[in-house]
Amino acid sequence: MKTAVMHGNTPRALAEAVRILKAGGILAFPSETVYGLAADAKNSEAVAKVFAAKGRPANNPLIVHCYDQSAAQDCVKGWNARCDAVAQAFWPGPLTLVLAKADDIPDIVTAGGTTVAVRVPSHITARALLARYKKPLAAPSANRSNEISPSCAEHVLKSLEGRIPLILDGGPCTVGLESTVLDLSSSNPRILRQGAISQSQIEAVLGHSVGLTNFDPQNPRSPGMMQRHYAPSKPVHLFDTVDDVLEGVPNGKIVLITFGESLAKISDKVRYRALPDEPTAAARQLYKALHWAEEQDAEIIYIQKPNRGEPWDAIRDRLSRML
Ligand code: TXA
Ligand code: MG
Repeated sequence: MKTAVMHGNTPRALAEAVRILKAGGILAFPSETVYGLAADAKNSEAVAKVFAAKGRPANNPLIVHCYDQSAAQDCVKGWNARCDAVAQAFWPGPLTLVLAKADDIPDIVTAGGTTVAVRVPSHITARALLARYKKPLAAPSANRSNEISPSCAEHVLKSLEGRIPLILDGGPCTVGLESTVLDLSSSNPRILRQGAISQSQIEAVLGHSVGLTNFDPQNPRSPGMMQRHYAPSKPVHLFDTVDDVLEGVPNGKIVLITFGESLAKISDKVRYRALPDEPTAAARQLYKALHWAEEQDAEIIYIQKPNRGEPWDAIRDRLSRML
């Protein structure tokens, strides 16, 4: 299969995307977090193509993307005042809500579970696509399973070329990390995956504290919480100071990624890139740096430990899963 890349926000590209979806096909589209791989959420055969293209295990449920809150409410049961509060505060945007699923959401979307994840993305092209298709889209990140998520169209092409017919190119993602996943399906709200919407932002809106559920292998409720996930294809080590790394630099070539610290050329054996020392900007560029790191002629990727503090939580979380 040939994979076309089209500038996403044009009538021609959107018409082609809608044609593919109506015919039960799949395509990649930009969101503000990372690129998604979409199928009509109500069409089980189309959703099966998403699992196949990614090589995704059938027990890992997908997020359903909706045009607005009302469309999201149609996909769930038990929408309540808490849901209203967070949806009004953070949608459209990088927050996913887990709630009891509506009867017409197919089992394949929820991996057979009784809950469904829903989100209203803010990216202009995602919104244009949802507005034209008029139905919710089930979409995981647009990468092969166990690879780093794509934060630009080139990353999608690298991972899925030949496996999908179309990529809508909407430029680099402005958030750059996957959405925060908040489970509101019980009376005890919990964050299942950290992201740009922080724990304290959610607590401020709900007016009470919200737990963070660490992955329990006995109860894999959200595979996003799995200990190892989102990993580059080369071993990753985290370090405190550049000196620590350089003292121990082994014989082989390495990649070095820092936050803020700008270094002079170190050695021919070191491929080096500095990310911003500000969490929003660093998140936006992190996956690009990791995709770049994978392509370098080097054996190990060394990444500086980010600062402490909540604004760095999501970055620290993703890095900890790469070890
Ligand atoms: O930002 C994002 O969320 C991106 C864009 C494309 O929207 N999507 C994304 O999808 O990251 P994916 O499939 O890579 O991650 C979805 C996460 C997984 O950790 C999955 O286990 C969790 O959401 N999830 C989906 N449905 C769930 C459910 N019913 N209960 C608990 N976790 C669920
Ligand atoms: Mg993913």
